[in-house]
This record gives sequence, structure tokens and C-alpha cells, in this order.
Amino acid sequence: MPKYLFIFLLISTFALAKDIDLYKQGEILYAQKGCNGCHGVHGEGMHEYPVIMNKPKWYLVKKMKFYRGKKGVMRQTAQIMIPFAEFLSDEEISYLTHYLSLYKEDMNAPKYDIEYESWGDGGS
Ligand code: HEC
Repeated sequence: MPKYLFIFLLISTFALAKDIDLYKQGEILYAQKGCNGCHGVHGEGMHEYPVIMNKPKWYLVKKMKFYRGKKGVMRQTAQIMIPFAEFLSDEEISYLTHYLSLYKEDMNAPKYDIEYESWGDGGS
């Protein structure tokens, strides 16, 4: 019995390591491809740029392939995405969407958001 347990643990450790790897790859690509320029460092979006983090992976993949394929009826705003999607490989899309769908804010990262700023003393 302990032998099976050991094998089980070994397999799950590898599975987990692979998962973390995908996430990390996606995180790197996200910055490398300049996605943060429009969608924000946390994928939180702004103005006409939609929120993209924590959406289902299948949905994100579908959208990325839609932009990459340049087929079908596209809104003008959607055309903005073409240059950022058209040269991505299937793997890159998979990494990026894995990262985005599972995105968790790094609690230790430095925060620059205004809401994290300490309140003043009332403006003396
Ligand atoms: C120049 C600005 C810009 C950059 C850079 C950019 N995007 Fe976008 N993105 C947009 C706009 C605008 C839309 C809305 C398009 C539409 O109306 O369908 C969008 C839509 C999306 C969507 C669909 C969201 C949804 O909920 O339907 C995804 C996913 C996405 N972008 C991922 C990315 C990724 C990944 C990158 C980096 C490779 C990236 N974007 C880079 C502007 C940008």
C-alpha cells in the first residue's frame, strides 16, 4: 500500500509542477507580448479594453483564435487585437489563457494602486 501511495504522490507532484510551469510561461508571455499595455498588469482592463483575467480558459482560447484567424464579422475594437494575436502559436495561446484563467494576484507584489495608498491626515 505505501508503495502505491508513493507512486501517487510522485505523479501528482509532476502534474502540479507542470501546471505551475504553464502558469509561469503564460505570465512571462503576457509581459513579453505587451498584453499588459492595454489590459493592465493584472488583466483588469481599462476603458474599452476588457477585463481578461479569471475568465474560463475555453472562452479566452476561442477569442484569441478568433482574433488570430481574422475571419468572421469583427467589430472595429476587435481589430485592435489582430496584431497581438496573429503571430501567436497554439502553445502560446494555451500558456497565456492558462495564466489568465487561473490568475491570482501576488499578495507580496508592490502595490501602486491609489486604493492602497494610506489616507492623509485630513489635508493639513
Ligand atoms: C493595443 C491594445 C491591446 C493589446 C496590446 C492587447 N489587447 Fe486584447 N483586447 C483589446 C481590445 C480593444 C479588445 C476588445 C476587442 C473586442 O471588442 O472584441 C481586446 C480583447 C481581448 C480578449 C477578449 C476578452 C473578452 O472578454 O472577450 C482577450 C482574451 C484578449 N484581448 C487577450 C489579449 C492578450 C493575451 C494580449 C497579448 C498577447 C492582448 N490581448 C493584447 C486590446 C488589446
